[in-house]
Amino acid sequence: MKCFCISCASCLSCKFSPALRYPRLVRYNLRMSENKPQAIIIGASQGIGAELAREFSARGYAVGLAARSGDRLEALRAELSGPAFVKVMDITRTDEAMAAFESLIEDMGGMHTAVINAGTGLPNRDLAWAPEKATIDLNVTGFAAMAGVAFRHFVGQGRGRLAGLSSVAALRGIPGNAAYPATKAFVSNYLECLRLNARQRKLPISVTDLRPGFVDTPLTKGQKGMFWLTPAPVAARHIADAIERGKSIAYIPPKWRLVATVLRHLPDSIYSKM
Ligand SMILES: NC(=O)c1ccc[n+]([C@@H]2O[C@H](COP(=O)([O-])OP(=O)(O)OC[C@H]3O[C@@H](n4cnc5c(N)ncnc54)[C@H](OP(=O)(O)O)[C@@H]3O)[C@@H](O)[C@H]2O)c1
Repeated sequence: MKCFCISCASCLSCKFSPALRYPRLVRYNLRMSENKPQAIIIGASQGIGAELAREFSARGYAVGLAARSGDRLEALRAELSGPAFVKVMDITRTDEAMAAFESLIEDMGGMHTAVINAGTGLPNRDLAWAPEKATIDLNVTGFAAMAGVAFRHFVGQGRGRLAGLSSVAALRGIPGNAAYPATKAFVSNYLECLRLNARQRKLPISVTDLRPGFVDTPLTKGQKGMFWLTPAPVAARHIADAIERGKSIAYIPPKWRLVATVLRHLPDSIYSKM
């Protein structure tokens, strides 16, 4: 028997029962049921992530708040009336961030729900390398590292809810912003792989691919050409509902499914002229 820790890479192929593989995590799981469910939000210092922390806290969760800006996280923790835990991390520094995520789970006595929200992507028509790389590092490398920690944890305890922030933009290319839709397509496909992986294991782990339309946050401030701009607290309510219902794919708010359907079926000849 090789694997007794959360970070062992053989966890996902290990055939031993979760109780044998993760004795410490099973103990957490028992404690978890006695207390509030724990929701950890990676990228919680502003925008959708901060509103989601407020929403989960109002619904009775203990919340774990992670991002780079410790001062903003502390201000949010002070504002919440329920239990809240802070961990400063830069998820593009994957080794440190994975260790920090695991330590946040430990601080909170377990994890019931994980939302990988951190993401970026600003217009970059001339493909300057620095912003392209920053977007790929955060939305792909950082995202996969965090999703892996959460998924291994849920496999170990035999259940859980994992959600990631993709976008309606994942469905088609955008001429002036190649990295954003491409990396969000990665997020959606990655989450589908994890959902299938959990189903194959017959484990009740829900994996929710969240696809917002335009949401009013610091990321979209000043951007042109937006419509149906949703206030971040409204988006957070829809996101929390979708996660609690264990939905596989959720458009945020749901009316964006209409846009998604049109985008998916529009022939290239018409889409390329828009
Ligand atoms: N707003 C929209 O219209 C919209 C639409 C579709 C999808 N989305 C997606 O929804 C998510 C949230 O968007 P938002 O508009 O709320 O963005 P935002 O206001 O820019 O917030 C992004 C959050 O991610 C954190 N973050 C950024 N880089 C990080 C890093 N290296 N390590 C750890 N945390 C990091 C930020 O905190 P720090 O800066 O403190 O690290 C912040 O808390 C993103 O994935 C975005 O792509 C947004």
